[in-house]
Amino acid sequence: MESRNVSKKPEGRAIIDPAKRSMLLAALYVAQEHNGYLTRDAVHQVAKRLGLTDSEVYSTASFYTLFRTEPVGRHVIQVCEGLSCYLNEGAERVVDYVGAKLGIKPGETTGDGRFTLETVQCLASCGTAPAMRVNDQLYENLSPASIDDILERLMGEV
Ligand code: FES
Repeated sequence: MESRNVSKKPEGRAIIDPAKRSMLLAALYVAQEHNGYLTRDAVHQVAKRLGLTDSEVYSTASFYTLFRTEPVGRHVIQVCEGLSCYLNEGAERVVDYVGAKLGIKPGETTGDGRFTLETVQCLASCGTAPAMRVNDQLYENLSPASIDDILERLMGEV
């Protein structure tokens, strides 16, 4: 008689236990802190500690915009291009402005490795749009002047 495996979705993908998933997200966050992104070794170590496969960990890491599996600049600038930001003259205007200031396009890192520019769909700051995040810091009600201030401060950091 064939037994039914309740730990598999119908299409055969494994379901990660909710408790392990919670630990996985925290572990990935800590692992990413070391290099700014999740190295192959970090993914492997997290998988090993939680009794998961590397592909299960990688799959979760690649789902969340918070996690990176490729090297990034010291300052990761995430510009929101969600609807609220778009309607508040953000999104494209902010992306273009920041990109022109740094000489890069979304998905690129400056030659000196200091800045990476990304776009994201929402930073949960819709009431104070347009918004962007630099590493863990959220910036709201952006204007060209406030963006200039932010970038000048970051460029001045040693
Ligand atoms: S749409 Fe930009 S913060 Fe939500």
